[in-house]
Amino acid sequence: MFVDRNITEVTIMDVDKKPVLFIILAVVTILAGTLATTFIPLFMGTASPSRENIKFYTALELEGRDIYIREGCNNCHTQMVRPLKFETARYGDYSTLADSAIDRPHLWGSKRTGPDLARVGRKYPAAWHVIHMKSPQSMYPKSNMPPYAWLADRDLNTKYTEAKMKTLGYPYTAADLRALEGKTEMDAIIAYLLRLGNELR
Ligand code: HEC
Repeated sequence: MFVDRNITEVTIMDVDKKPVLFIILAVVTILAGTLATTFIPLFMGTASPSRENIKFYTALELEGRDIYIREGCNNCHTQMVRPLKFETARYGDYSTLADSAIDRPHLWGSKRTGPDLARVGRKYPAAWHVIHMKSPQSMYPKSNMPPYAWLADRDLNTKYTEAKMKTLGYPYTAADLRALEGKTEMDAIIAYLLRLGNELR
């Protein structure tokens, strides 16, 4: 018995002296971990939220979202509330995968120069946004957000709206597209801001 134990100890200690065996064991261990934590949940269905209750973007909201991307709002604003108490207390419900199920690309962002906007649609009425977008400093004198007053002077370019709606698979009607006539870029971006956080009916 005494001899046996010695042999076992020697074998275990030798693993780190055999580089090839050590690498193989390390790779196997890491692969097993990756498989268990990444790939298995991917196919369990829980990672892909059901689309049943999701409100698709309207044509106007989609155009607003594209202006949001064009203007780089996502460089200063995140759209992801983390499941931490101080975040939910400030911003509202934490984000879930269902919130961005129809977003191509998602706009989670990584830098918060300004506040998170994932739930901002529930916070202010449209009129507040118009004033704030035209002059953030009129609302918060110390704000370093640039003013976007000129968006109100620019007609919405609807040349590709239908193609975008089709490509992304959002439902729309001819009347929806006609309703875009006469809208400005400001109308579109505010429609988009107002729906943030209201993805699920
Ligand atoms: C240089 C960084 C910066 C950029 C770019 C920027 N913002 Fe902001 N934003 C801020 C800061 C800082 C605040 C907080 C002070 C304020 O409300 O003005 C803010 C606040 C906001 C708020 C109010 C949020 C709240 O919860 O009170 C909204 C809405 C908003 N921004 C929308 C936008 C949109 C839309 C764009 C792009 C067109 C944009 N921002 C671009 C920095 C930025």
